[in-house]
Parts: sequence; structure tokens; C-alpha cells
Amino acid sequence: MKVEEVLSCSFPSWYDKFKKCTIKSLVLPVTPEVLRYLQDDGTLVLPEGSQPELVYKRNSENEDDDVEDWDHCEKSGGVVQGPKLEEFSSKMQDAIKRLGGSVFPKLNWSAPKDASWIAFNNSLRCCTPGDVYLLLKSSSFITHDLTAPFKDCDDVNESDTDHEYYLVLRQWMEINPAFEFRCFIRNKELIGICQRDVSQSYSCISADQANIRSDIISFWRENIENRFPLPNYVVDVYRPAKDHVILLDFNPFGETTDCLLFTWPELKGVEETRQCSDRILDCDVSEAPERSLEEQNARNVDSNREMNEHIDTQVSQSSTPEFRFISDATGVQPSPYMQYGLPVDIVDLSTGQDPMKLLDFLQMKIQNEEDESSDDEEVSS
Ligand SMILES: Nc1ncnc2c1ncn2[C@@H]1O[C@H](COP(=O)(O)OP(=O)(O)O)[C@@H](O)[C@H]1O
Ligand SMILES: [Mg+2]
Repeated sequence: MKVEEVLSCSFPSWYDKFKKCTIKSLVLPVTPEVLRYLQDDGTLVLPEGSQPELVYKRNSENEDDDVEDWDHCEKSGGVVQGPKLEEFSSKMQDAIKRLGGSVFPKLNWSAPKDASWIAFNNSLRCCTPGDVYLLLKSSSFITHDLTAPFKDCDDVNESDTDHEYYLVLRQWMEINPAFEFRCFIRNKELIGICQRDVSQSYSCISADQANIRSDIISFWRENIENRFPLPNYVVDVYRPAKDHVILLDFNPFGETTDCLLFTWPELKGVEETRQCSDRILDCDVSEAPERSLEEQNARNVDSNREMNEHIDTQVSQSSTPEFRFISDATGVQPSPYMQYGLPVDIVDLSTGQDPMKLLDFLQMKIQNEEDESSDDEEVSS
């Protein structure tokens, strides 16, 4: 992957050109002080005035108690002041208003999807600048944008670390994940389409697969094919109804982007996918949509997707794009956002990412049991 490819997928690089077929959005350049605030991983304090003041109605009987309770915090210096980012916050407030009162926030590339658990509404829907700051400050995906956007590029150099950041506010839209699809384009050819949310199986996809496929192909040909500057890229689309497709986002063609029900070696063509597709094509085309991927599975070098027999593929006579979706509930994959919001120690223990933690944990368990049994012995003697 090249730096230029990542830059072309940055929201401000493509939005103007594709305004007509995507969700209305406003882009605010991130000022140095806001960038410093976002990059600072110290205490999470919202900027002053970014959230409407909460007015508590006091119960007159307990009024004195309340005052006493909170007073000691202020005296001991427990209250940390947030930064003053008034100008930026007021621009944000303005943009939110212009976009209808609620927005979906992201930076150049990523949305803070991993942080939705921290928001009061458990969603990325933001109505105040404070809602936006809270999500941005709590997200590892945003940290990735801020610290390592070119991590997987093989031509990265010093000067690439110095580029403009933008806050993107998109008009809030209720999106049904059943109608979201990811499209993979290699050498200017649409080679794969996949359901975007692989944590569920949606019967409506299977029922309408031919129309979904043809609507997405037509949309791509008419709006994107000859207009997006790269030969290789990934594009996310939303198809809420027949003949109605909306562009959601562009992503680099490479490992930083989730390949969902495909694998990257397959998509890059370094594996035997072609032969595999050809093999499916060898059979009667009318049977192809129903065909299980079991055989194809066996051919994939990276065949860790044991559930593949529940993934349907649709290959027509024209062979591409291949359309993959989960045909029944046993094929679902774990949600990639499930681990966020859990204490990091629990995640490390459950995934085995840090074996030393597991050893410490087991040691602690053994110690506890020994202590308990020696207590019992003392009691019984
Ligand atoms: N304007 C919007 N309103 C509500 N939800 C949205 C909006 N735009 C995107 N989403 C949801 O957020 C998800 C991630 O959006 P996206 O822009 O692709 O971020 P990322 O590149 O970080 O994945 C989408 O799959 C969609 O479900
Ligand atoms: Mg994206």
C-alpha cells in the first residue's frame, strides 16, 4: 500500500467530487490546539462549555448535605479544568445545527466506532460538541488516524507525518446494517461485494441477492468507476431500497481495511481465487448462487474461517464481482467492536495476547486457594 492511496481515501480528498451520491457532510480543519487536546492521552476532560450545563434540582431538605459532599472535591483540587476550545466548539455547534441537529463524527479516515459504548446513548449520534469530543477522545481508531495513518504503507517517509487533520461531521442517518455492503476494486475492476456487518446473518440479503448485486454494480459504474483516482480501493455503500444506493466511504485496498468474508491474499490475487471462481463457473450458473463454499474453503491458504460453508457466494457468467454474504446464523463472525469497552486485562486474558498476564492470573488463583485452605485448616484445628 502506498501513502498516496491512503491520502486519496481521506474524506476531504474525495468528498467534493462525490457530494451528490453520499451523505451531506461538513469538514472542519482541526486547529493545532484541538489536535494537541485530541493527542493528549492524559485525563479525559471535556473542553469548557462543550456540553450544555446540567441543572440539578435540589431537594431543599438535603441541600446542605449536597453542598458538603461536593465541596471537599473542589477544595482538594479534585476538579480538573478542561481546555478552552471555544472557537472550534462553536464552529462545531454551528455545523451540527446546519446538518439538522445530530451528526456522525469521524476524522480523515476513521469513525470512533469502538467508543460508542462510552456515549450516553450507546451510539455515535452526536448532538453537542461535547458528545463529539467524548467519542474522539475515547477511541483507539481515532488514535490510529492521529498517530499511524500510514502504518501499512511501504513508501512512508518523515514528511508524511506532517499533514492536515479534519473533523468530518456527517448528517445523522439511521442506517440498517443489513443494507450495507463493502466493494473491492482491483485494477479498476469490481471483483468482490460483501455484506458489511458480518456479526449477523440477514435473510433479506439472500432473498434479494440478484437485485442487490446488480444495483451495486450499476451504482459503481455510473458514479465511481471512472471518477475515483486509484486502480485499487475499497468502497462502502448503503442500499436501503431497490435502485437506491448511497456512497458511504472509501478505504485503502490493503490490510488496514477489514476484508470481511474475503481474505486479503484472495483479493490481491496472490491465491487461487481465480481458479476457484472458474471452478464454480464450470458448473451450471443457475446453481452457482446456492453453491456452498466448502470446496473453495479447502483451497484457501488462510482457511481459518471455519464457518465458510455458511457463506454464500454468487458468481454469474461474467464471473466478477463475487458476492459474499452469510446465509444462516451459524456463519456469523464475532463483532470486531465487542472487545472495546472491556478492561484491557480481561481482553488480554481471554485472547491469550499476553501470556504473562495469564500466568500471573493463574498464580494468583493458586495462591488464593492455598490461603483459603490454610485458613480452613486453622479454623478446624
Ligand atoms: N451519517 C451517518 N449516520 C449514521 N451512521 C453512519 C453514518 N455514516 C456512517 N455510519 C455508520 O458508521 C459505520 C462506519 O462508518 P465509516 O464512515 O465507514 O467509518 P470507518 O471508515 O471508520 O469504518 C458505517 O458502516 C455506518 O453503519
Ligand atoms: Mg472507512
